[in-house]
Amino acid sequence: MNSLLTWFEDRTGARKLLHEALYERIPGGARWRYVWGSTLVLAFVTQAITGIFLWMAYSPSTQTAWESVYYIQYEMQGGWLLRGIHHFMAQAMVVLLAIHLMQVVIDGAYRAPREINFWIGLLLALIVLGLSLTGYLLPWDQKGYWATNVATNLSAFSPAGTGEPLQKIAVGGADYGHHTLTRFFAMHAGVLPAALVGLLVVHVALFRKHGIHATKPDAKPATTFWPDQVLRDAVACLAVLAVVLGLVVWKGAELGAPADPASPYSAARPEWYFLFLFQFLKYFTGSTEAIGAIYAPGLVMAVLFLMPIIGRWKLGHRFNILFLCVLLLGAGLLTWQALDDDYYAQWHEYEEDKYPEGSDERKAYDAKFEASRTYLAAVEAAHEEAERVVELASSPSKIPPTGAVTLLRGDAKLRGPRLFTKHCGSCHNYQHTRGDDASRDIVNEAPSAPNLFGFGGRDWVAGLLDPERIISRHNFGYQSYAEDGTPRESPLLGGQMVGFVNDTIRDADVADVAEIQQEVAQVVAALSAQAALPAQEELDAKDQAAITAGLEIIRGNEGSLSCIDCHKFGDDGDLGMAPDLTGYASRRWIIDFVRDPAHNRFYGDAESDHDPPNDRMPAFGQQFDDKTLGLIADWLRGDWYEPEADEAEE
Ligand code: HEC
Ligand code: HEC
Repeated sequence: MNSLLTWFEDRTGARKLLHEALYERIPGGARWRYVWGSTLVLAFVTQAITGIFLWMAYSPSTQTAWESVYYIQYEMQGGWLLRGIHHFMAQAMVVLLAIHLMQVVIDGAYRAPREINFWIGLLLALIVLGLSLTGYLLPWDQKGYWATNVATNLSAFSPAGTGEPLQKIAVGGADYGHHTLTRFFAMHAGVLPAALVGLLVVHVALFRKHGIHATKPDAKPATTFWPDQVLRDAVACLAVLAVVLGLVVWKGAELGAPADPASPYSAARPEWYFLFLFQFLKYFTGSTEAIGAIYAPGLVMAVLFLMPIIGRWKLGHRFNILFLCVLLLGAGLLTWQALDDDYYAQWHEYEEDKYPEGSDERKAYDAKFEASRTYLAAVEAAHEEAERVVELASSPSKIPPTGAVTLLRGDAKLRGPRLFTKHCGSCHNYQHTRGDDASRDIVNEAPSAPNLFGFGGRDWVAGLLDPERIISRHNFGYQSYAEDGTPRESPLLGGQMVGFVNDTIRDADVADVAEIQQEVAQVVAALSAQAALPAQEELDAKDQAAITAGLEIIRGNEGSLSCIDCHKFGDDGDLGMAPDLTGYASRRWIIDFVRDPAHNRFYGDAESDHDPPNDRMPAFGQQFDDKTLGLIADWLRGDWYEPEADEAEE
């Protein structure tokens, strides 16, 4: 054994090297303040190891990047831990860098003969920032996509002429997209780490060559690296690891919804340690933007690089310390300001009488609240999307080959409310009225069209056949407006349907009331079954008898509520007077109706026999394709994927 070791030693000198490293002299004794460099090495090694494992599962393309990160985060064994460590260690590295820099500058460890090593250290810091910038894009989620878009646009401000080519190099062509991703990945996993390793080797070698720079070498007797300093370094490294692991378990690395170039995410922000720059840029607009984006940061970097030279004089050294403190303090303040701007509406109470109505201060104050509310709403919507896409991606239908973004685009639960709010909510209400769950309400305070909550369901149809409810503001008694905008009574109040309900149901002979009520219940069951609503599936199956009876009544074969006198229903009745009830409120029916409500099949136009003709309900056929109309229909019908079957029963 011993001879083997000697053999090895003769050929490599490893033992001697190790001995030199461990027994290197530390003037002034081991100290806690020397641990930061070691923690940074640990952080880097951690990043390299976790990075390689992430690489094994990552697939850099616009259609697979998010999907592979989803796989790592949610399906791969221990993937969340791997990604979590990589995510938080990257942030820890930035903090450790700042501390390390502080320590070096305060101790004056940049002075001769250590200038070059100080410069290498600064380059290393820049590479770490570059790694974090490029890494932010790789998950290809909304946040990273839009924040990086802002960042790459900044390169356009670089000095005369270099802007556009530089931006093209960063973006990988004229358009921000797939090539940006592949480029960033090559930088992140290839170029930058290689540069970092090379510089780090030189950095550590030079550090060994010059030894530890002690401010008060005579304060304590000198020791050797082993064991005193090694122990301190180990404790510090373990502490860093513990903090990172704590963050992974407590918060976890988040994964936003997949990047969608078609839906800009206004609340995209860079990683928190770049927030100060982001905030700083807000103070520069238009022609001065280059100052904030290029010249000011360039000047700061120049001062940092000149520090070893400035620090030759005692006063210069003091200036360096002051400069660094001001820099970090400034960055802290800017970060706080950035957060305060974004969370203003959450952190501050709105004070109605803080400023007089109409004053400039009041306008600025209101604008601040408004901007913050917009931000918070966008963040909340993004969270909702992120949660939903994970639900969908883990659904039995899985992620389609076109990528996860198509899951979101085609999701009725997510897009329905947004489409409704934007295109239907100006007239229609969507509000539970009878003890249902209020969480899905989209409330219109002054509706001018029927409330569409539960459209086609039994309660909805029952409302139409109830003399009280049909004339309520939630139904045909809504507030209508003439073409010139003057308010008027809903024309449907004087229409044939209300007339029919009054004549046959409200004014039914006392003797017939019970019978009529039973007929109504059967008609309700039958007509509502036409919709085939997912939530009513069991109910429909259970009440087959009532449904069959109801169909006979609708067709006028039984009872006294013949609907086909006015409506078409299947092969019975005719078009032209009243909306076609065949497949009423089914997906197909809603799509056709919303596409063109003034069609003869529905309300008819002014020239038709329909009385009254369509009242203000616009035709959406020009604006939306069938897919979008289908999303609206699915959402109105409560037809979307839910992870647990019993949750869909709403
Ligand atoms: C400009 C106002 C307006 C807008 C916008 C509007 N509607 Fe309507 N809608 C009406 C009115 C008024 C009615 C009442 C029936 C009629 O006369 O057409 C109606 C009826 C309906 C009905 C039939 C409900 C019933 O009581 O029988 C459905 C379904 C419907 N709208 C869906 C939609 C959807 C979906 C959108 C958005 C894509 C939308 N509407 C946008 C005004 C509007
Ligand atoms: C006297 C003719 C007439 C009879 C009978 C009649 N309806 Fe109607 N119904 C209408 C008309 C016309 C409308 C369109 C709104 C209006 O003008 O009042 C309508 C509207 C409706 C609507 C709303 C359609 C929409 O999309 O807005 C439903 C549902 C409906 N009727 C169901 C029935 C049922 C069920 C019966 C039978 C129990 C029935 N109707 C009997 C004339 C009639």
